[in-house]
Amino acid sequence: MKFLPSTAFLLSLLSATGVFASPVPATASTKYELSPKKKFGIMSFHSGNFNVHLHPFFVGESGHVYLTQYDNADQVNEFYLKDSQLFHKDEIASLDKDGALVFKSSNNSSLTGFNTKQLTTGIGYEFRLNTSFPVACHVPNTNEVYQIYYGRENHTSECVGIATELIIP
Ligand SMILES: *[C@@H]1O[C@H](CO)[C@@H](O)[C@H](O)[C@H]1NC(C)=O
Ligand SMILES: *[C@@H]1O[C@H](CO)[C@@H](O)[C@H](O)[C@H]1NC(C)=O
Ligand SMILES: *[C@@H]1O[C@H](CO)[C@@H](O)[C@H](O)[C@H]1NC(C)=O
Ligand SMILES: *[C@@H]1O[C@H](CO)[C@@H](O)[C@H](O)[C@H]1NC(C)=O
Repeated sequence: MKFLPSTAFLLSLLSATGVFASPVPATASTKYELSPKKKFGIMSFHSGNFNVHLHPFFVGESGHVYLTQYDNADQVNEFYLKDSQLFHKDEIASLDKDGALVFKSSNNSSLTGFNTKQLTTGIGYEFRLNTSFPVACHVPNTNEVYQIYYGRENHTSECVGIATELIIP
């Protein structure tokens, strides 16, 4: 009698071997700059809100950034910095007219001032736009989708301030 592994078994094996990125571990005293074009993920923190806390940034088809895999978001949620500008694939970050973070290759008015700073506690790297953290605003007519804004002044939906840190794969 032949033994064939079941599909369910194979699926559980695949998911068990899935790669999960984790926040940067404490690296004692070593303080190093991220090398240029070093790829990283960005993680949102806001301990009071389950839909926002410990969620990575995802870039949707529209180029907008969400905290869940919304808008057919890309599987690859990697970013890099160059000359303090933020890139996803070859698209550069800018703000659209309502202050939402968006990745569009053809936009002149790209944002400069993105920076990373090692936390004094040594548990990771903060990610800011100059001195600012973004806000995450609930996307209307969705259950739990939150979108990233840096320039938003006129809130039409529920927004919460978040902190952002790097995830180094
Ligand atoms: C680029 O960004 C500016 C400022 O937000 C916006 O007005 C303009 O429509 C954008 N251009 C393109 C080509 O997306
Ligand atoms: C916008 O982009 C176009 C095409 O790359 C370029 O010719 C133009 O100088 C840019 N404008 C500004 C203000 O950067
Ligand atoms: C960040 O600061 C630099 C230097 O002051 C400035 O040129 C840049 O426009 C700032 N970026 C934003 C998004 O305000
Ligand atoms: C917010 O948006 C409304 C409608 O577009 C506008 O009338 C109001 O002036 C805006 N408020 C601020 C503070 O921008």
